[in-house]
Amino acid sequence: MSNALASKPDSKGFFGAYGGQYVPEPLKARLNEVAEALASAEKDPSFQQQLESLNKNYAGRPSPVFYCANLSQNGAQIWLKREDLNHLGAHKINNTLGQCLLAKRMGKTHVIAETGAGQHGVATAATAALMGLKCTICMGEIDIERQHLNVARMEMLGANVVAAKTGQRTLKEAVDEALEQWIDDDSMFYVLGSAVGPHPYPYMVRLFQSVIGREAREQILEATGHLPAACIACVGGGSNAIGLFTGFLNDSDVRLIGVEPGGRSDNYGDHAASLCLGEPGVLHGFYSYMIKNPQGGAGEVYSISAGLDYPSVGPEHSSLKDSGRAEYVKITDQEALHAFLTLSRHEGIIPALESAHALAYALKIAPQFPHDQILLVNLSGRGDKDVNQVERILRAEKKNPM
Ligand SMILES: Cc1ncc(COP(=O)(O)O)c(C=O)c1O
Repeated sequence: MSNALASKPDSKGFFGAYGGQYVPEPLKARLNEVAEALASAEKDPSFQQQLESLNKNYAGRPSPVFYCANLSQNGAQIWLKREDLNHLGAHKINNTLGQCLLAKRMGKTHVIAETGAGQHGVATAATAALMGLKCTICMGEIDIERQHLNVARMEMLGANVVAAKTGQRTLKEAVDEALEQWIDDDSMFYVLGSAVGPHPYPYMVRLFQSVIGREAREQILEATGHLPAACIACVGGGSNAIGLFTGFLNDSDVRLIGVEPGGRSDNYGDHAASLCLGEPGVLHGFYSYMIKNPQGGAGEVYSISAGLDYPSVGPEHSSLKDSGRAEYVKITDQEALHAFLTLSRHEGIIPALESAHALAYALKIAPQFPHDQILLVNLSGRGDKDVNQVERILRAEKKNPM
């Protein structure tokens, strides 16, 4: 489970200048309890064995890498790391299995989680069902509307879905709600869904998601004999991206490219590109690049994809941006939609709209590379949850061709 290549945050939870624990004292005590339990679990071979066995037999790991021959006619070879083939259809299960195992180890009986697109909520609800934990999922009212299928799945899996009705009623408000409930209830463990939040969450989520990069590096070497020219992943909070990047951090010739949601335009309120268009600040207890409103608080964000519209980003990504080890770019809604349809029609794989952002960037730069170079795209999830939304958009575009 350990990854010697990636550095740990310092004792206060900072990756370079970013991260930390900007939280009230009662929450600090909860976080430190989690950090201590994690440190002990990391050293315990039986915890690692349990997690490896669940990853293999429950989640279906390792997920394969796949060569998209039809999309590789012009320039680089495009390969996908198929996280969409995991149980429940996304990378989120890698993290929920680890965190729920830790919750059990700590004697907690109730897990709470936030969710945006619903994928993390579904993964938490399923893992809680598997492990006999009570489960509460906080979700913005707007996301409940646009991700109805996942709400139904969570409820079928036995979770109680609570609507966050304040502010923009999306992912930020769902996190606010979950943190508030967690502070008040000692029986609870907060299963955070991305590499964000106060220490130790960014480190813990990376630890559980780094299985993606570890497998991918081995698989691509075995299949092709080469490392990729670039690893490309979408960035919401940044968990699937950091999971992939961690496997290649020490391969200095491998470019690491995070793709943010460029939405409708670069104007305030039209995107959620925290690294490309934001500035450093504190949100949800950690210091990182974020989108600010004119008063300096959490700004309004937007993306076609419910899993990407968060106004901040994992602190390790901020550090990787400043050091120049990783590059961060943005892809618009239209470009993501185009990639969504391209993969569906030419490779028979319907991707999540989130993952379509990463693919869109690979399609954009592929012609700049010779054919013997590889672009490895993390296909973080499958698109079933997005089918209704995309159908509605396409129907509206037919009525009002631009
Ligand atoms: C399929 C999929 N990919 C990516 C993301 C973005 O999250 P992260 O940046 O933490 O990987 C989500 C979030 O819900 C998702 O459902």
